[in-house]
Amino acid sequence: MTRVNRRITLAARPLGMPKESDFKLVETPVADPGDGELLVEVHYLSVDPYMRRRMMDVPSYAPPVGLGEVMVGGAVGRVVASRHPRFQEGDFVESMNFGWQEYALSNGRGVRTVDPKLAPISTALYVLGMPGMTAYFGLLDICAPQAGETVLVSGAAGAVGLLVGQIAKIRGCRAVGIAGGDDKIAYMVQEAGFDAGYNYKTVTDHAAKLRALCPQGIDVYFDNVGGVITDAVIPQLNPLARVSLCGQISSYNATTPELGPRFLTHLVIKQIKMQGFLVFQFQQRMQEGMQQMAQWLREGKLVYRESVVRGVENAPRAFIGMLRGENIGKQLVKFAAAQ
Ligand SMILES: NC(=O)c1ccc[n+]([C@@H]2O[C@H](COP(=O)([O-])OP(=O)(O)OC[C@H]3O[C@@H](n4cnc5c(N)ncnc54)[C@H](OP(=O)(O)O)[C@@H]3O)[C@@H](O)[C@H]2O)c1
Repeated sequence: MTRVNRRITLAARPLGMPKESDFKLVETPVADPGDGELLVEVHYLSVDPYMRRRMMDVPSYAPPVGLGEVMVGGAVGRVVASRHPRFQEGDFVESMNFGWQEYALSNGRGVRTVDPKLAPISTALYVLGMPGMTAYFGLLDICAPQAGETVLVSGAAGAVGLLVGQIAKIRGCRAVGIAGGDDKIAYMVQEAGFDAGYNYKTVTDHAAKLRALCPQGIDVYFDNVGGVITDAVIPQLNPLARVSLCGQISSYNATTPELGPRFLTHLVIKQIKMQGFLVFQFQQRMQEGMQQMAQWLREGKLVYRESVVRGVENAPRAFIGMLRGENIGKQLVKFAAAQ
């Protein structure tokens, strides 16, 4: 019997917050792998903020998803047929190129094998995958935090943010997080070991709150969100502070550019370094990052949390929910094959 591949394609380019009608569920027959190809049955799909930009026809570091094309996305699954020398049937594999679909046909480029004995395979999309490497290199390489310094993280209860605070703690820093919910702050402090945090949705005077939670000032700011939160943080930075510009999610659904205060004088007079980065620039050092994160995981120094929605048909809902802040930790979609 011919197997059916259920996939989510891009139906329309969103204006503002994406809607479920911007996506379409399409069914196609599953193709057999040709020479040098492998067929993967997807178990988990990752939905990530970067996908919002890939839905738009705007200049970026990667081309946009075309209308009618399968949505781009990282996923992990099991090889069900292989005519590729590097992969055997039964292997678990991860790739950023599998996309929002139940079966992915691949030529093996950008595909890596995942060891299910090391950790649950879903971690290949989180702690032992792209978000984990983002936290690791984005904090340690860009900001070089020193023991005793205060590290502030925005978007702190999300996939990247939760790991950044924990890595800061491992390095002997004080970790403070900003996130959008009391439940998020409770998880961050009680389970992930941050020293303090606050819910930006219930605070109006950010400056006063930051001064109270960071009495020694802020030495490192890991920015996932930008906008008014970052505007409030910059004046609180200490001389010689380092800022890692990881993301600016507060503007991803904006239809007009946000005009904020121009705070760059603070960078001048305090000699602050601010640097953007893309996790892929550390491609050559992924092994180092993976090994270190796996070791911290084994030693119980890192905790992680997954928010899981089931079924490929619910991937758009999971993605939109993540943009709205419904997740704590990594937002994943678990497919029928993984049940
Ligand atoms: N540079 C890189 O290579 C790289 C790689 C991966 C990720 N990133 C960036 O890192 C950031 C976090 O990504 P992630 O995968 O870990 O996602 P995530 O934090 O797990 O999920 C996104 C979170 O953003 C928050 N958010 C949404 N709208 C917001 C707003 N207007 N203001 C403040 N917060 C808002 C929500 O939490 P709240 O409830 O707290 O609002 C939501 O849970 C994103 O900016 C992403 O683009 C960069």
